[in-house]
Amino acid sequence: MMPHQSFNNEAVSNRHKLLELLADGRFHSGQELGRTLSVSRAAIWKSLRSLAACGLSITSVKGRGYCLECPMEFLSRARLLETLDHRVVDGVSKLTVFTEVDSTNQFLLDRINQADFHGHVVLAEYQSAGRGRHGNLWLSPYGSGISLSLGWEFTTPPAAMGIISLALGVAVVETLCEFGINNVGLKWPNDILHNRDKLGGILVEMRGELAGPSRLVMGIGINYSLPRKQALVPGRKVTDIAAIADPLPSRNVFTARLVSRIMEMLMTFDNSRIPNLLERWRQHDCIKGETVTLETAGGPIMGEVAGIDESGSLLLRVNDQVKSYTSGEISLRLGR
Ligand code: BTN
Repeated sequence: MMPHQSFNNEAVSNRHKLLELLADGRFHSGQELGRTLSVSRAAIWKSLRSLAACGLSITSVKGRGYCLECPMEFLSRARLLETLDHRVVDGVSKLTVFTEVDSTNQFLLDRINQADFHGHVVLAEYQSAGRGRHGNLWLSPYGSGISLSLGWEFTTPPAAMGIISLALGVAVVETLCEFGINNVGLKWPNDILHNRDKLGGILVEMRGELAGPSRLVMGIGINYSLPRKQALVPGRKVTDIAAIADPLPSRNVFTARLVSRIMEMLMTFDNSRIPNLLERWRQHDCIKGETVTLETAGGPIMGEVAGIDESGSLLLRVNDQVKSYTSGEISLRLGR
Protein backbone atom coordinates (compact mmCIF):
# COMPACT_ATOMS: atom_id res chain seq x y z
CA MET A 1 0.00 0.00 0.00
CA MET A 2 1.27 3.49 -0.84
CA PRO A 3 1.67 6.21 1.81
CA HIS A 4 -1.21 8.63 2.09
CA GLN A 5 -1.23 12.25 1.03
CA SER A 6 -2.22 14.68 3.68
CA PHE A 7 -1.73 18.43 3.71
CA ASN A 8 -2.49 20.17 0.45
CA ASN A 9 -0.82 23.46 1.43
CA GLU A 10 0.54 25.44 4.37
CA ALA A 11 -2.71 27.17 5.34
CA VAL A 12 -4.46 23.80 5.52
CA SER A 13 -1.60 22.38 7.56
CA ASN A 14 -1.68 25.32 10.03
CA ARG A 15 -5.41 25.04 10.41
CA HIS A 16 -5.14 21.34 11.15
CA LYS A 17 -2.30 21.81 13.65
CA LEU A 18 -4.40 24.35 15.52
CA LEU A 19 -7.32 21.96 15.56
CA GLU A 20 -5.07 19.22 16.92
CA LEU A 21 -4.35 21.45 19.91
CA LEU A 22 -8.04 22.22 20.41
CA ALA A 23 -9.13 18.60 19.91
CA ASP A 24 -8.99 17.87 23.66
CA GLY A 25 -12.09 20.06 24.12
CA ARG A 26 -10.32 22.22 26.75
CA PHE A 27 -9.67 25.94 26.82
CA HIS A 28 -6.44 27.22 25.28
CA SER A 29 -5.37 30.85 25.34
CA GLY A 30 -4.49 32.62 22.11
CA GLN A 31 -1.03 33.26 23.55
CA GLU A 32 -0.44 29.57 24.32
CA LEU A 33 -1.67 28.48 20.88
CA GLY A 34 0.53 31.06 19.15
CA ARG A 35 3.55 30.06 21.20
CA THR A 36 3.07 26.32 20.55
CA LEU A 37 2.64 26.81 16.83
CA SER A 38 5.26 29.59 16.58
CA VAL A 39 2.86 32.00 14.91
CA SER A 40 1.37 35.36 15.90
CA ARG A 41 -1.95 35.68 17.74
CA ALA A 42 -3.30 37.35 14.61
CA ALA A 43 -2.43 34.21 12.63
CA ILE A 44 -4.22 32.09 15.26
CA TRP A 45 -7.26 34.33 15.03
CA LYS A 46 -7.26 33.95 11.22
CA SER A 47 -7.07 30.16 11.44
CA LEU A 48 -9.84 30.10 14.07
CA ARG A 49 -12.06 32.13 11.76
CA SER A 50 -11.38 29.78 8.87
CA LEU A 51 -12.23 26.78 11.09
CA ALA A 52 -15.52 28.44 11.97
CA ALA A 53 -16.12 28.86 8.24
CA CYS A 54 -15.65 25.07 7.93
CA GLY A 55 -18.67 24.66 10.21
CA LEU A 56 -16.91 24.21 13.55
CA SER A 57 -18.29 25.70 16.70
CA ILE A 58 -15.47 27.33 18.67
CA THR A 59 -16.25 29.03 21.96
CA SER A 60 -14.22 32.05 22.98
CA VAL A 61 -14.26 33.20 26.64
CA LYS A 62 -12.39 36.28 27.76
CA GLY A 63 -9.53 35.35 30.07
CA ARG A 64 -9.75 31.62 29.26
CA GLY A 65 -9.26 31.44 25.50
CA TYR A 66 -10.78 29.13 22.92
CA CYS A 67 -12.28 25.69 23.06
CA LEU A 68 -14.15 23.26 20.87
CA GLU A 69 -17.66 22.26 21.89
CA CYS A 70 -16.52 18.68 22.52
CA PRO A 71 -13.31 16.68 22.08
CA MET A 72 -12.61 15.55 18.54
CA GLU A 73 -11.18 12.25 17.34
CA PHE A 74 -9.21 12.66 14.14
CA LEU A 75 -8.99 9.92 11.58
CA SER A 76 -5.68 8.13 11.83
CA ARG A 77 -4.42 6.06 8.95
CA ALA A 78 -2.46 3.83 11.34
CA ARG A 79 -5.50 3.15 13.53
CA LEU A 80 -7.68 2.51 10.51
CA LEU A 81 -5.21 0.03 9.09
CA GLU A 82 -4.80 -1.87 12.35
CA THR A 83 -8.58 -2.10 12.79
CA LEU A 84 -9.41 -3.21 9.24
CA ASP A 85 -10.55 -6.81 9.07
CA HIS A 86 -7.46 -8.82 8.08
CA ARG A 87 -9.52 -10.63 5.42
CA VAL A 88 -10.01 -7.41 3.44
CA VAL A 89 -6.64 -5.70 3.89
CA ASP A 90 -5.31 -7.13 0.62
CA GLY A 91 -8.31 -5.68 -1.22
CA VAL A 92 -7.36 -2.12 -0.21
CA SER A 93 -4.86 -0.97 -2.85
CA LYS A 94 -4.35 2.41 -1.18
CA LEU A 95 -5.72 4.32 1.81
CA THR A 96 -5.65 8.10 1.61
CA VAL A 97 -6.71 10.28 4.54
CA PHE A 98 -7.02 13.97 3.74
CA THR A 99 -7.35 16.74 6.21
CA GLU A 100 -9.10 18.71 3.47
CA VAL A 101 -10.08 17.97 -0.10
CA ASP A 102 -12.76 19.31 -2.44
CA SER A 103 -14.66 16.01 -2.65
CA THR A 104 -13.44 12.48 -1.99
CA ASN A 105 -15.64 11.29 -4.88
CA GLN A 106 -14.15 13.89 -7.23
CA PHE A 107 -10.63 12.97 -6.11
CA LEU A 108 -11.21 9.37 -7.20
CA LEU A 109 -13.07 10.32 -10.38
CA ASP A 110 -10.00 12.35 -11.38
CA ARG A 111 -7.91 9.20 -10.93
CA ILE A 112 -10.31 6.73 -12.48
CA ASN A 113 -7.76 5.49 -15.02
CA GLN A 114 -4.95 4.97 -12.55
CA ALA A 115 -3.64 1.49 -11.88
CA ASP A 116 -4.39 1.61 -8.13
CA PHE A 117 -7.94 2.95 -8.58
CA HIS A 118 -9.47 -0.43 -7.79
CA GLY A 119 -9.63 -0.71 -3.99
CA HIS A 120 -8.46 2.86 -3.29
CA VAL A 121 -10.16 4.13 -0.10
CA VAL A 122 -10.27 7.90 0.41
CA LEU A 123 -11.35 9.69 3.59
CA ALA A 124 -11.38 13.36 4.51
CA GLU A 125 -11.78 15.38 7.67
CA TYR A 126 -13.30 18.15 5.58
CA GLN A 127 -14.66 18.46 2.04
CA SER A 128 -14.87 21.98 0.65
CA ALA A 129 -17.16 20.87 -2.20
CA GLY A 130 -18.75 17.65 -0.95
CA ARG A 131 -21.41 16.43 -3.36
CA GLY A 132 -24.82 14.97 -2.61
CA ARG A 133 -27.39 13.40 -4.91
CA HIS A 134 -29.26 15.43 -7.51
CA GLY A 135 -26.52 18.07 -7.66
CA ASN A 136 -26.96 19.02 -4.00
CA LEU A 137 -24.05 19.99 -1.77
CA TRP A 138 -23.04 17.66 1.03
CA LEU A 139 -22.03 19.84 3.95
CA SER A 140 -20.20 18.33 6.86
CA PRO A 141 -18.27 20.44 9.37
CA TYR A 142 -14.56 19.74 9.82
CA GLY A 143 -13.95 16.41 11.60
CA SER A 144 -17.67 15.93 12.32
CA GLY A 145 -18.57 13.33 9.76
CA ILE A 146 -17.38 10.27 7.94
CA SER A 147 -16.71 11.24 4.33
CA LEU A 148 -15.62 8.13 2.53
CA SER A 149 -15.13 7.12 -1.10
CA LEU A 150 -13.99 3.87 -2.60
CA GLY A 151 -12.89 3.17 -6.17
CA TRP A 152 -13.91 -0.20 -7.61
CA GLU A 153 -13.79 -1.93 -10.95
CA PHE A 154 -16.43 -4.52 -11.76
CA THR A 155 -15.32 -6.94 -14.42
CA THR A 156 -18.86 -8.30 -14.56
CA PRO A 157 -20.99 -5.27 -13.75
CA PRO A 158 -24.19 -5.94 -11.82
CA ALA A 159 -27.28 -6.10 -13.98
CA ALA A 160 -28.64 -2.98 -12.32
CA MET A 161 -26.15 -0.44 -11.02
CA GLY A 162 -28.71 0.67 -8.43
CA ILE A 163 -28.00 -2.61 -6.66
CA ILE A 164 -24.56 -1.31 -5.65
CA SER A 165 -26.01 1.68 -3.94
CA LEU A 166 -28.52 -0.54 -2.08
CA ALA A 167 -25.60 -2.75 -1.01
CA LEU A 168 -23.78 0.25 0.44
CA GLY A 169 -26.89 1.22 2.41
CA VAL A 170 -27.05 -2.29 3.83
CA ALA A 171 -23.34 -2.12 4.76
CA VAL A 172 -23.89 1.15 6.64
CA VAL A 173 -26.95 -0.07 8.55
CA GLU A 174 -25.35 -3.41 9.41
CA THR A 175 -22.25 -1.59 10.70
CA LEU A 176 -24.46 0.63 12.86
CA CYS A 177 -26.17 -2.50 14.24
CA GLU A 178 -22.74 -3.93 15.08
CA PHE A 179 -22.32 -0.96 17.44
CA GLY A 180 -25.76 -1.43 19.00
CA ILE A 181 -27.44 1.28 16.91
CA ASN A 182 -30.45 -0.70 15.75
CA ASN A 183 -33.19 1.78 15.03
CA VAL A 184 -31.86 3.13 11.75
CA GLY A 185 -33.65 2.57 8.46
CA LEU A 186 -33.16 2.92 4.72
CA LYS A 187 -35.25 5.15 2.50
CA TRP A 188 -35.03 4.15 -1.14
CA PRO A 189 -32.69 4.38 -2.83
CA ASN A 190 -30.08 5.12 -0.20
CA ASP A 191 -30.88 7.63 2.51
CA ILE A 192 -29.95 6.50 5.98
CA LEU A 193 -32.56 7.73 8.45
CA HIS A 194 -33.18 7.66 12.16
CA ASN A 195 -36.85 8.37 12.76
CA ARG A 196 -37.25 10.85 9.94
CA ASP A 197 -33.91 12.54 10.40
CA LYS A 198 -31.07 12.10 7.95
CA LEU A 199 -28.03 10.31 9.34
CA GLY A 200 -26.26 9.72 6.05
CA GLY A 201 -26.42 9.31 2.31
CA ILE A 202 -24.74 7.58 -0.60
CA LEU A 203 -23.60 8.83 -3.97
CA VAL A 204 -22.36 6.32 -6.55
CA GLU A 205 -20.77 7.80 -9.64
CA MET A 206 -19.40 5.99 -12.66
CA ARG A 207 -17.45 6.41 -15.84
CA GLY A 208 -17.03 3.88 -18.60
CA GLU A 209 -19.07 1.56 -20.68
CA LEU A 210 -22.23 -0.17 -19.55
CA ALA A 211 -20.96 -3.35 -21.18
CA GLY A 212 -17.56 -4.64 -20.08
CA PRO A 213 -15.58 -3.53 -17.03
CA SER A 214 -17.05 -0.56 -15.17
CA ARG A 215 -15.23 1.67 -12.74
CA LEU A 216 -17.35 3.10 -9.98
CA VAL A 217 -16.74 5.65 -7.27
CA MET A 218 -18.83 4.88 -4.21
CA GLY A 219 -19.27 7.77 -1.83
CA ILE A 220 -20.75 7.59 1.65
CA GLY A 221 -21.37 10.51 3.98
CA ILE A 222 -22.41 9.90 7.59
CA ASN A 223 -22.98 12.50 10.30
CA TYR A 224 -20.79 11.38 13.18
CA SER A 225 -20.84 14.21 15.72
CA LEU A 226 -22.14 17.51 14.41
CA PRO A 227 -21.74 20.74 16.34
CA ARG A 228 -24.88 20.71 18.53
CA LYS A 229 -25.97 24.09 17.19
CA GLN A 230 -26.40 22.46 13.79
CA ALA A 231 -27.65 19.05 14.84
CA LEU A 232 -30.37 20.42 17.08
CA VAL A 233 -31.86 23.12 14.86
CA PRO A 234 -35.63 22.40 14.90
CA GLY A 235 -36.94 21.38 11.50
CA ARG A 236 -33.50 20.71 10.06
CA LYS A 237 -34.20 17.00 10.07
CA VAL A 238 -30.63 15.81 10.53
CA THR A 239 -29.15 13.62 13.20
CA ASP A 240 -25.76 12.13 13.97
CA ILE A 241 -24.27 9.01 15.50
CA ALA A 242 -23.49 10.94 18.70
CA ALA A 243 -27.20 11.55 19.26
CA ILE A 244 -28.31 7.95 18.84
CA ALA A 245 -25.39 5.79 20.05
CA ASP A 246 -24.64 4.89 23.62
CA PRO A 247 -21.71 4.69 23.98
CA LEU A 248 -20.40 6.67 21.02
CA PRO A 249 -18.14 4.37 18.99
CA SER A 250 -14.65 5.57 18.14
CA ARG A 251 -14.68 7.37 14.79
CA ASN A 252 -11.67 5.37 13.59
CA VAL A 253 -13.04 2.02 14.71
CA PHE A 254 -16.47 2.69 13.20
CA THR A 255 -14.93 3.80 9.90
CA ALA A 256 -12.62 0.79 9.74
CA ARG A 257 -15.54 -1.58 10.40
CA LEU A 258 -17.60 0.13 7.72
CA VAL A 259 -14.79 -0.13 5.16
CA SER A 260 -14.30 -3.80 6.13
CA ARG A 261 -17.97 -4.57 5.57
CA ILE A 262 -18.08 -2.84 2.22
CA MET A 263 -14.90 -4.55 1.06
CA GLU A 264 -16.16 -7.92 2.24
CA MET A 265 -19.37 -7.43 0.28
CA LEU A 266 -17.56 -6.35 -2.87
CA MET A 267 -14.85 -9.01 -2.66
CA THR A 268 -17.45 -11.75 -2.41
CA PHE A 269 -19.55 -10.19 -5.16
CA ASP A 270 -20.22 -13.32 -7.06
CA ASN A 271 -21.60 -13.50 -10.55
CA SER A 272 -23.26 -10.06 -10.18
CA ARG A 273 -24.98 -11.04 -6.93
CA ILE A 274 -24.48 -10.19 -3.28
CA PRO A 275 -25.91 -12.95 -1.06
CA ASN A 276 -29.40 -12.12 0.26
CA LEU A 277 -28.91 -8.47 -0.55
CA LEU A 278 -32.53 -7.65 -1.33
CA GLU A 279 -33.80 -9.45 1.78
CA ARG A 280 -31.23 -7.62 3.89
CA TRP A 281 -32.23 -4.27 2.38
CA ARG A 282 -35.95 -5.00 2.89
CA GLN A 283 -35.35 -5.71 6.59
CA HIS A 284 -34.31 -2.09 7.00
CA ASP A 285 -36.83 -0.47 4.63
CA CYS A 286 -38.36 2.30 6.73
CA ILE A 287 -40.86 3.73 4.25
CA LYS A 288 -42.77 0.66 3.06
CA GLY A 289 -46.50 1.29 3.29
CA GLU A 290 -46.14 5.06 3.41
CA THR A 291 -47.82 7.47 1.06
CA VAL A 292 -45.10 9.51 -0.59
CA THR A 293 -44.40 11.77 -3.52
CA LEU A 294 -41.78 10.56 -5.97
CA GLU A 295 -40.14 13.42 -7.85
CA THR A 296 -39.28 12.09 -11.31
CA ALA A 297 -37.96 13.75 -14.47
CA GLY A 298 -41.52 13.51 -15.78
CA GLY A 299 -43.02 15.24 -12.72
CA PRO A 300 -44.23 14.24 -9.25
CA ILE A 301 -46.04 10.94 -8.70
CA MET A 302 -47.97 10.22 -5.54
CA GLY A 303 -48.39 6.67 -4.31
CA GLU A 304 -47.94 4.13 -1.58
CA VAL A 305 -44.50 2.51 -1.26
CA ALA A 306 -44.76 -1.24 -1.89
CA GLY A 307 -41.05 -2.05 -1.39
CA ILE A 308 -38.40 -2.88 -3.98
CA ASP A 309 -38.36 -5.41 -6.82
CA GLU A 310 -35.68 -7.95 -7.77
CA SER A 311 -33.60 -5.32 -9.59
CA GLY A 312 -33.74 -2.93 -6.63
CA SER A 313 -36.23 -0.56 -8.29
CA LEU A 314 -38.85 1.17 -6.18
CA LEU A 315 -42.36 -0.28 -6.25
CA LEU A 316 -45.09 2.30 -5.93
CA ARG A 317 -48.81 1.60 -5.78
CA VAL A 318 -50.49 4.29 -7.87
CA ASN A 319 -54.26 4.08 -8.38
CA ASP A 320 -54.29 0.37 -7.41
CA GLN A 321 -51.54 -0.47 -9.88
CA VAL A 322 -48.01 -1.29 -8.75
CA LYS A 323 -45.35 0.29 -10.93
CA SER A 324 -41.56 0.17 -10.66
CA TYR A 325 -39.24 3.17 -10.80
CA THR A 326 -35.48 3.11 -11.27
CA SER A 327 -34.85 6.74 -10.28
CA GLY A 328 -36.42 9.66 -8.48
CA GLU A 329 -36.37 11.39 -5.14
CA ILE A 330 -38.94 10.47 -2.50
CA SER A 331 -40.47 13.14 -0.29
CA LEU A 332 -42.17 11.91 2.81
CA ARG A 333 -45.36 13.52 4.08
CA LEU A 334 -44.65 15.94 6.88
CA GLY A 335 -46.04 15.64 10.36
CA ARG A 336 -45.86 11.86 10.77
C1 BTN B 1 -26.82 12.28 -0.48
O1 BTN B 1 -27.17 13.27 -1.12
O2 BTN B 1 -27.53 11.80 0.40
C2 BTN B 1 -25.50 11.63 -0.78
C3 BTN B 1 -24.38 12.22 0.03
C4 BTN B 1 -23.04 11.60 -0.29
C5 BTN B 1 -21.90 12.33 0.40
C6 BTN B 1 -20.60 11.61 0.26
S1 BTN B 1 -19.39 12.22 1.39
C7 BTN B 1 -18.15 11.29 0.61
C8 BTN B 1 -18.41 11.37 -0.88
N1 BTN B 1 -17.80 12.53 -1.46
C9 BTN B 1 -18.68 13.41 -1.94
O3 BTN B 1 -18.42 14.50 -2.46
N2 BTN B 1 -19.93 12.94 -1.72
C10 BTN B 1 -19.91 11.65 -1.09
